[in-house]
Amino acid sequence: MTTTTLYNKYSHLRKSYQTVERTWGEYQANRIAPDAPPGSLDAKSPALHELYPDIAKYRIVSTDRFYDKAIAQLEWDKLWNNVWLLAGLETDLKEVGDWLTFQIGLHDIVVVRSAHDKVQAFYNVCRHRGNRIVHGDFGKGLTCFTCSFHSWIWRLDGGLARATDRESFAPEALATVDGEDLDMKRVHVEIFAGLVFISLAADPLPLKTYLSGMGPILESYDLGSMVVIRDVQMEMPANWKLALNAFTEAYHVHSQHPQALLRGDDVNVQFDFYEYGHNRMIQPQGVVSARRSDGEEMHAPLADMITDAGLNPDDFVGRNGEARLAIREVKRQPDNIFNMDYSRLTDSQVTDIWAGHVFPNVTFTTQAEAFSFQRFLPHPTDPEKTIWNVIQIGRRTKSPRRLEIDPAVFDGPRLERKRTSIDDTGLYEVLDQDVETIPHVQKGVRSPSLKHVRFGEQESRLQQMYAEIDKYLHAS
Ligand code: FES
Ligand SMILES: [Fe+2]
Repeated sequence: MTTTTLYNKYSHLRKSYQTVERTWGEYQANRIAPDAPPGSLDAKSPALHELYPDIAKYRIVSTDRFYDKAIAQLEWDKLWNNVWLLAGLETDLKEVGDWLTFQIGLHDIVVVRSAHDKVQAFYNVCRHRGNRIVHGDFGKGLTCFTCSFHSWIWRLDGGLARATDRESFAPEALATVDGEDLDMKRVHVEIFAGLVFISLAADPLPLKTYLSGMGPILESYDLGSMVVIRDVQMEMPANWKLALNAFTEAYHVHSQHPQALLRGDDVNVQFDFYEYGHNRMIQPQGVVSARRSDGEEMHAPLADMITDAGLNPDDFVGRNGEARLAIREVKRQPDNIFNMDYSRLTDSQVTDIWAGHVFPNVTFTTQAEAFSFQRFLPHPTDPEKTIWNVIQIGRRTKSPRRLEIDPAVFDGPRLERKRTSIDDTGLYEVLDQDVETIPHVQKGVRSPSLKHVRFGEQESRLQQMYAEIDKYLHAS
């Protein structure tokens, strides 16, 4: 997408901004739930500089990180091989023989439920001459792995069951060489909170340790009870970090998504940082942004949100901020209009947007009724391209309009992953607004005039990302 169609569509909304006089120190300290007890999910994390004493170095980073092939290679060698990576959803591995595949760079992985109580992952590569063994994104009913080239067969546990015409091989042709035998090559896999992670590391940290403070957040949503309602994948003409960074700050919301300021706060945002690179941002919803001078008016997006909750927008004119609390109260009722059980969620989770970054390459955005993951998978050879996968999961609610969910998805089979392009994402307008800009930013970082980019405190989650990446790249 090369035009600025969506930007121009909302130009009229950019006329009512007021300057927000808030210092960078105030942004660091901001709390949306000041009374949240320490250790609770709403609680403010330690400050970023406590986790990363050298964070000041990451307020400016060099633009070669977004295109340099040597840096990309260093990431392949030292980052991607040493982290946990989101391979898929546990709901795709419910029964023995259910499988999913995951590609990152030159790595092609298949994950299978090999027994009722066991999920295993392997390189999806034939040990004979290298053919790809399992084709597709996910499926069911696998009883063994069969290579389509010469029909070698492996059990679901990866052990070789048949080397076709085995007697026709001299013994040395089937020998173990450099540690490679004839079994499918295993990859570490662990499941946490309904999410399937793999690691290419020889000896990774336990996944729960790796997820640190992000673990309880992911667990709180009961993701395993949700259904896939969107699954779209396309190539983005941008480095994976640059593309991801468009989704880890709210600083751009007033300019890129001005319509979102009519029902959500982009100023009183809370940032929380966890070990191993993960972080979270809370954006209050059901309130007109402090950036707008007409917060006492009732705007259509907020009115829709109030109506969806079964309340009357007229009751909230001139009472900016109260709708958020009223919507929360309505959702807390056992017979709430959404037909949802919010009891395991905190007050903020019930009404606000929680946006997470699961290091290194997954972001999520959630608003209690649905959960959107974005995976930013670096292109195998071109650092200026990213495979961008958006997976949205949700629960059947009685009020699907706001979530733009087709109720039919809850009754049919698991949605196929749709391959498309950024010119026709099939996503929703907010994401299309981001997609409109990202390719221009990638072009800009290639300009000889720009050797560095700069991050303010509304972009502190970006600072953390580069600080964490460098821990891997500079590790001996
Ligand atoms: S390449 Fe797989 S059996 Fe020959
Ligand atoms: Fe955005």
